Amino acid sequence: MRHQAHELPHMTVDSQDFRDALSRFASGVTVITGLDSDGTPVGVTVSAFASLSLDPPLVLFCLGLRTAKLDAYASHGAVAVNILAEDQHAVSELFASQRTDKFATVGFCQGDNGCAVLDGCLASLECAIVNSHVGGDHLAIIGRVERVHRGVAAAPLLRFRGRYAALGNPGS
Ligand SMILES: Cc1cc2nc3c(=O)[nH]c(=O)nc-3n(C[C@H](O)[C@H](O)[C@H](O)COP(=O)(O)O)c2cc1C
Repeated sequence: MRHQAHELPHMTVDSQDFRDALSRFASGVTVITGLDSDGTPVGVTVSAFASLSLDPPLVLFCLGLRTAKLDAYASHGAVAVNILAEDQHAVSELFASQRTDKFATVGFCQGDNGCAVLDGCLASLECAIVNSHVGGDHLAIIGRVERVHRGVAAAPLLRFRGRYAALGNPGS
């Protein structure tokens, strides 16, 4: 059977409807860490994270173009993706804040690639940045996973409808 291309009517999507619909896609929460050009650790909370390829092992995350120190995540070659556990709500809030001393109150060690591997996470992935692509007001960044740290055996921190949630306890 031949598939026919249908002309879709041009519709403007209401931005509030769009955000609300996207917020209904439940996700985990990560903190992406990197290094500034002078070697200072940086980190940002990111829920727009996905697996991309198994062989080679690739992951994908998206950062707003206005993210502070965007180059530290996109251009300096290396990041660590830290997947948060359900008791790391405060860590998520810390790395989503504008604070300049984000690493003063969290435990971490330095990964082989120099980026911060945070204590208490479910897993951390050390990545080499291989590509990035601007999509609207965000940058999609692709990393090749070079080292995997298995972390604590715990439940994940989740994000759903603009709130933190836990497995089996939606919207709490
Ligand atoms: C749960 C949660 C998930 C977030 N996910 C993203 C994301 O996927 N991409 C993004 O650019 N910002 C995301 N943010 C917002 C950033 O963490 C925040 O805007 C950023 O840290 C602002 O600080 P900075 O620009 O000084 O780094 C998220 C925030 C929270 C609390």
